[in-house]
Amino acid sequence: MTKQQNQCNSLWTDEMAQSYDDLWGDHPMHHKVVELSELDASSVVLDIGCGSGTVVHAVADALTSGKVIGVDPTAKMIELAQKKTVESNVEIEFHQSGAEALPIENHIVDVVLAVNSLHHWSDVIEGLNQVRTVLKAKGRLVLIDELWDELPEYQKPKCDDAKQAAHLEAFKSTEVIMATLNEQGFKSITKRIYRAPDVAVSVITAFVN
Ligand SMILES: C[S@@+](CC[C@H](N)C(=O)[O-])C[C@H]1O[C@@H](n2cnc3c(N)ncnc32)[C@H](O)[C@@H]1O
Repeated sequence: MTKQQNQCNSLWTDEMAQSYDDLWGDHPMHHKVVELSELDASSVVLDIGCGSGTVVHAVADALTSGKVIGVDPTAKMIELAQKKTVESNVEIEFHQSGAEALPIENHIVDVVLAVNSLHHWSDVIEGLNQVRTVLKAKGRLVLIDELWDELPEYQKPKCDDAKQAAHLEAFKSTEVIMATLNEQGFKSITKRIYRAPDVAVSVITAFVN
């Protein structure tokens, strides 16, 4: 994929998925996620929109017990993620699924992660409902996104459908995301910016109760 081929929600072709993996599949940001999300080493973690699985594997490396589940609606992403699977102390599962219909038991997850993913969900409200359903009491959602305003080449999604392009833009705004989380009943919503020479991201954390 050139950086800005059609990125409409879940309509990722095999070619786009492969190109995404080649270009962005192993970004320094992915290796910061464990630290940024302050994961406990015995957590059950779900990565929504896991792409080709780098974060899932980084989390699995950091856990001593628990489990990591990656979901993504793009078949090719799941294929790439499964190919990367390496030995780990904990169970790793991948499922082909969007945020809107998670194939996960209710209330088993400690931390839901979504890295550069939320703005791709075709129905953010239903996705957040699903997040609430799979999280345990006191569980949390951690949204990690690049600082889109500082990456001009990312700003205008090249999307054939104007409505979907507007959706992609809206959910790149941390203000829109935080307001939506609040409207959907999430608690203790915080945002922080993390900057290092090779990584600059926003980290939004929201608790289920
Ligand atoms: C920019 S990629 C990020 C992938 C990965 N999280 C990473 O950081 O490398 C966005 C991902 O969102 C996925 N996606 C698209 N629609 C989705 C949906 N409805 N629910 C969850 N993920 C979705 C895409 O298939 C793609 O893998």
